[in-house]
Amino acid sequence: KVYRASTTAPVNIAVVKYWGKRDAKLNLPTNSSLSVTLSQSDLRTLTTASCSASYPASEGDSLILNGEAADVAGARTQACFRELRAHRAALEAADPSLPKLSAMPVRLVSENNFPTAAGLASSAAGFAALVRAIADLYELPASPSELSLIARQGSGSACRSLFGGYVAWRMGDAADGSDSLADQVAEASHWPEMRAVVLVVSAAKKGVSSTSGMQQTVATSGLFQERITNVVPRNMEAMEKSIKERDFSAFAQVTMRDSNSFHATCADTYPPIFYMNDVSRAAIRAVEAINTAAGRTVAAYTFDAGPNAVIYYLEKETEAVVGTLYRTLGEIDGWKAATTQSLNSSVS
Ligand code: DP6
Repeated sequence: KVYRASTTAPVNIAVVKYWGKRDAKLNLPTNSSLSVTLSQSDLRTLTTASCSASYPASEGDSLILNGEAADVAGARTQACFRELRAHRAALEAADPSLPKLSAMPVRLVSENNFPTAAGLASSAAGFAALVRAIADLYELPASPSELSLIARQGSGSACRSLFGGYVAWRMGDAADGSDSLADQVAEASHWPEMRAVVLVVSAAKKGVSSTSGMQQTVATSGLFQERITNVVPRNMEAMEKSIKERDFSAFAQVTMRDSNSFHATCADTYPPIFYMNDVSRAAIRAVEAINTAAGRTVAAYTFDAGPNAVIYYLEKETEAVVGTLYRTLGEIDGWKAATTQSLNSSVS
């Protein structure tokens, strides 16, 4: 008998960024963060988990990612497997009639529906889908917040992909990480006009991984202290308020300023880390020009650990924002490819 469960998890893009770990082993952050979940019809990971007593024990756990064998030996993947197995083993110990799934090798098959060439970090959706697929396979009675504790150990940002809509990752202060988990600030339906477009500047893999980049920032940046003590707590509060009140102008300004603050701490890292390039900066100027022309804030940019822009706007401003972006950026070399690969997404 083969036991099987399938699930999908969405991509999320932070509007208040996670950057810095206080515990690298448990993946505990130095600040809380908040993200917007993108529509799964555009961007998601689909994962199927199966296990069987007939799978040879010698093969161990395995993962096929986008059709190719991938490594599961990494400490973070192992941490997720270990936690999920321990939860299952506890259920089996309490009810001996349950099949001993915890003793069987697990096979995972995982696929992204967005091109790897989109240059989007997929670890968030990937680990969220991995954790939920195995939790479903094991029939664990765990809430999304409980699963977020496990997904966090795979990749920090993954804990925010267990929910739709607007999601906060509360940093917590317990040394064992038991209070460092995600919760939903608002459903997507709370603000149905919200849209995002991903402008692909480069599909190349980022130079400095977020994991090592943030470690270097924590170790060397003085600006980082100001960010985690003052800037982020203020941004988290203003962001939650702007979402509750559906105040796009406030939402947009906090989003842009938090992205700028994050990239400033990267530049303040020694040696400095540059994720944005000239084309990214052209996108910032284009968004500023759109907002100036509108006489109010109708578009917000944000950049993760790479040069691609995510632009947030409201549905009724699609022409003013996306139309203008394509027209202005289309004249810049680096954007020819960008505009054809861009992904329009609703929030879900
Ligand atoms: C800039 O979640 O990829 O996208 O926990 O080391 O796996 P690890 O880092 P990761 O970092 C994401 C950083 C970011 C900001 C964010 O998503 O909040």
